[in-house]
Amino acid sequence: MKKEGIPLEKFVIKGGHKLTGEVSISGSKNAVLPILAASVLAEGVCVIDNIPTSLSDVSYMLEALRKLGAGVELINENTVRIDTTEISSTYVDYEITGHLRASYYFIGSLLGRKGHAKVALPGGCNLGPRPIDQHIKGFQALGAKVSGADPSCVDVSSKSLFGSSVYFDVVSVGATINVMIAASKAVGTTIIENVAKEPHIVDVANFLNSMGADIRGAGTDTIKVNGVSKMHGCSYTVIPDQIEAGTFMVAAAATKGDVLVNNVIPKHLESITAKLIESGADVEVFDDSVRVSMTDRSDICTIKTAPHPGFPTDMQPLMAVLLSTSKGTSLISESIWSNRFKYVEQLQRMGAVINVDGNLAIIHGVKKLLGTQVRADDLRAGAAMVVAGLCAEGTTEIEEIHFIDRGYENLVSKLRSLGADITRVEY
Ligand code: EPZ
Repeated sequence: MKKEGIPLEKFVIKGGHKLTGEVSISGSKNAVLPILAASVLAEGVCVIDNIPTSLSDVSYMLEALRKLGAGVELINENTVRIDTTEISSTYVDYEITGHLRASYYFIGSLLGRKGHAKVALPGGCNLGPRPIDQHIKGFQALGAKVSGADPSCVDVSSKSLFGSSVYFDVVSVGATINVMIAASKAVGTTIIENVAKEPHIVDVANFLNSMGADIRGAGTDTIKVNGVSKMHGCSYTVIPDQIEAGTFMVAAAATKGDVLVNNVIPKHLESITAKLIESGADVEVFDDSVRVSMTDRSDICTIKTAPHPGFPTDMQPLMAVLLSTSKGTSLISESIWSNRFKYVEQLQRMGAVINVDGNLAIIHGVKKLLGTQVRADDLRAGAAMVVAGLCAEGTTEIEEIHFIDRGYENLVSKLRSLGADITRVEY
């Protein structure tokens, strides 16, 4: 949708160029967003490095911090100094939260710091219902009271939080992080069970511990948080982005290219590496880089998304692009979100033959994709369209690229440095 005075932009991609060369991966969006919210607990100065500051989601989180009373200063392109000595407000309004899901992390951090949070219900990609009942269940277990007075906001308060036991009914990245953040300041010990184990959970726990929290077990099924009464500022470097790395790995394979993807933690990429190898790609793993190359159409592959260490749901639209030109029929089953095959309609417009049956996509490989006009339906769907455009014959134009701007730092310049013909144009 066109906003008054703001020109619309689209990507124009002339496909058929093999990606070759080296690319460096930025800091993890899904770690940075909760880390920024968690900095509220510091009551001091945090200097955080490897932040992809040009992402729109990051800008909204920094704006939210400013509105809460924090001092926010960009020291350089990827380093931010946040002073949360003073936090004067406990309200995050819809002007912020309407843009991104991760704004809900301010519930945990404000509750921990000020004993109150009023945060408008969050927006974010439409991937199906996105309830936050498990977050609320966790806060209530810590003793917080939830007010139902304003249905457009989550309004929680507690004079003091108390350590408790929390068992999540579903494995949730957001609930795990949010409750871990709040529990850092509870009196006593909190045991959180059936938690998510994504790399960004561990990174947020490490950041909280750098601020003086006492959290153990992040990355396993059970997290133990020994509450502390006071936290402090710290210096911290965010981990590389698992999904951005995976996106470039798939793009290298899909364009039959050869790319060295630098600044990654290969352990975080194991499920993606495994599926690329099954699809016929060559993947060489080094200490902090991976090299992906492919020479032929991909082999067929079966993928089922699952919480970490399973195959990430955020990568399935990208693998669907690779498999859309495979030598037979591949299957992708989506087990996290109920509405994550919207991109299929766009890929079909490019000649892909894909049937969707509930949570299953049946992909019949075709010889090639053909460029046309498509749209980004959400962040990863949009990234998938970019990769489709890179390997398609002819020109692909992608609209609604504001979704892609949420999660990929310097995407155009990174792709161009690998030989892609992609431009961002106003229309
Ligand atoms: C995070 O979303 C990511 N977002 C998503 O990435 C990612 O797809 C998702 O985790 C799964 O890996 C951010 O980190 C900002 P969940 P989140 O809570 O935390 C259900 C991207 O492209 N659920 O793990 O919102 C929920 O409906 C984005 O970068 C409840 O039922 O996901 C879903 O089926 C898109 N109740 C499942 O759990 C709750 O209270 C997993 O959701 C919470 C979740």
